[in-house]
Amino acid sequence: MQIRNVRDIDVRSKYVLLRTDFNVQIVDGDITDSFRIDASMPTIKYLIDNGARVVICSHLGRPKGEKNSELSLRQIAEYMDIPFVEDCLDKDFLPNMHDGDVVLLENLRFHIGEEKNDDSFAKKLAEGFDLYVNDAFAVSHRAAASTVGVTKYLPSFAGLLLEKEITNLTKFLQSSQKPLIAFVGGSKVSTKIGVLKKLVSIADKIVIGGAMGTTFNYALGLPVGDSLYEESMADTALEIINIAKENNCDVLLPLDKGVGKEFDKNAKRENRDADKIKDDDIIMDDGEKTIARNKELLKDAKTVIWNGTFGMAEWGEPWARASFELAQDMAHFTKTGKIESIVGGGDTVAALNACGVFNDMTYVSTGGGAFLEFIEGKELPGIKVLEK
Ligand code: 3PG
Repeated sequence: MQIRNVRDIDVRSKYVLLRTDFNVQIVDGDITDSFRIDASMPTIKYLIDNGARVVICSHLGRPKGEKNSELSLRQIAEYMDIPFVEDCLDKDFLPNMHDGDVVLLENLRFHIGEEKNDDSFAKKLAEGFDLYVNDAFAVSHRAAASTVGVTKYLPSFAGLLLEKEITNLTKFLQSSQKPLIAFVGGSKVSTKIGVLKKLVSIADKIVIGGAMGTTFNYALGLPVGDSLYEESMADTALEIINIAKENNCDVLLPLDKGVGKEFDKNAKRENRDADKIKDDDIIMDDGEKTIARNKELLKDAKTVIWNGTFGMAEWGEPWARASFELAQDMAHFTKTGKIESIVGGGDTVAALNACGVFNDMTYVSTGGGAFLEFIEGKELPGIKVLEK
């Protein structure tokens, strides 16, 4: 796919509406993970260095058309140390901007028209600008006013991050070296049906863990105790196993689990074989045999893709063991040049950060839902509108 790129045009003295995805985690006013902000810095810097007048817009959370101070982008403007504009439709500040200036607009989703891709909202948003640049890969699966609607009114281009995401994920889909192993975790099969079907058709092996692995084990008649799983997804799980068989992809499910008696990070961890889970066991991680098997699998891989943690990784030890050990081994094999590693999804990226191995992967995507849809092969509306 060929898309129009910001590097192909002259941006000097142009008013550029730059869509970024600054939907980052903020806890008690502190930005706890700046990955998405950092990832758009090359585009922001490129525009500033080339004399554009840069007006950044983004969403934060899901305020559904209501103002909400906890979801104000003011916090991000302060973090970036750039001027802030209190309403994304305000235009009064534009005449005071000079070449190389940058400002950040308030949360687009404080207006109901944003998520509805309302045409009059998109038109108002576009007013006063010469160009539109989309650098928000992570929200390009949403047809919103700021990702799609606005392109009707402005010459539109991809930013450097958007370009990088498309290049790296397309390379993974089209030319990854075999053997390819996919690790998929997270809580719900229902949110990943499309990507699971895609991955079993291109990977040599797929390892399904976490609560999703519990659903697959349940579908195969194994006990799951008092754990989180999706009963209604049992048939889908069996269908995915069948598609994998047709495509010669091995499906590897949890052999054992880390269980406790309370759903609590301080619960005592015990290891239980997958066929010996007791009625009052709560599964909160994959088990020791599964972890050891996953490590062995990595030794034979050339490409590894990972989305979704395997247990309550956000609680740290002892419930993050399966996720953290995979992260560390992937980092080791990537650094030694044995594998190419691709990682996507907020929780998975948080696990990389918690282990200090974020920079050791071949490619880490800023996308969550967008990453899954791109890998699935879906056309992302925010990218489609930038096609040449
Ligand atoms: C994300 O975090 O995946 C994107 O920012 C999209 O957010 P949304 O799921 O609220 O549309």
